[in-house]
Amino acid sequence: MEVIILKNPSDVAQRGADLCVELIKKKPTAVLGLATGSTPLSLYEELVKRCERKEVSFKNVRTFNLDEYVGLEGSHPQSYRYYMDHNFFDKIDIEKANTFVPQGDAKNPVAVGFEYENQITKAGGIDLQILGIGRNGHIGFNEPSSSLSSRTRIKTLTETTIGDNKRFFRQGEFQPGLGITMGIGTIMEAKQILLLATGEQKTEAIKAAVEGPITAMCPASVLQMHRKVTAIIDEAAAEDLHSKPYYYWVLSQQQKIEKLYGR
Ligand code: F6R
Repeated sequence: MEVIILKNPSDVAQRGADLCVELIKKKPTAVLGLATGSTPLSLYEELVKRCERKEVSFKNVRTFNLDEYVGLEGSHPQSYRYYMDHNFFDKIDIEKANTFVPQGDAKNPVAVGFEYENQITKAGGIDLQILGIGRNGHIGFNEPSSSLSSRTRIKTLTETTIGDNKRFFRQGEFQPGLGITMGIGTIMEAKQILLLATGEQKTEAIKAAVEGPITAMCPASVLQMHRKVTAIIDEAAAEDLHSKPYYYWVLSQQQKIEKLYGR
């Protein structure tokens, strides 16, 4: 895993955007896997700016979101479809028909999982999957104890996740306890993965994911098995990493290697 530690969330967003833009320039028809939550918001803001400045175009890009709440329709302000439209898709030049989010209000959410897998396969697989991380180490809505080879399906959310996401719901508003999420096996098939984490509330999860044992109790730890993962994290989230000096050293060497031999 390549671990890039940067000063603050804004640097994390800039570096994450560089990686996305680099990919889209190389492959204008790239398939992106996207996350919601607080962490990628500044990345999306940065990508919107770059699109407005015509530094990147999403015209031929296709996207698949990681997850959605079961029971919420796309027009619901707390749905992830709504989040994506309002924070990203409506602000860039992407074709809406090329953006996929699992349908939370489908009659049969189990069938949605199978169909979603087919759609990803039909698109040729995901080129770059963007991930945040839950305080309990979840990725997508794959909570601790999720099968490390799971596919897109319904997951019961933990109390921690429900509690953490409460801030997005009004008092008394229905908050779903079920999500439909790409599986860990699905995520692991992405050709490249970008894990973003910022803030001290993620310190423990990042320590477990990057340096802990691979265990279903920290789903993000399975990323250690993926051949192309870049973790871009800020200093607060990196606080407890044992091998911090080594990660900084690797980065400085990487820059030299790229100068000499290219990327
Ligand atoms: C949401 C998702 C989740 C979040 C995680 C962190 O699509 O995939 O795994 O990435 O819950 O959320 P934030 O960024 O709000 O701390």
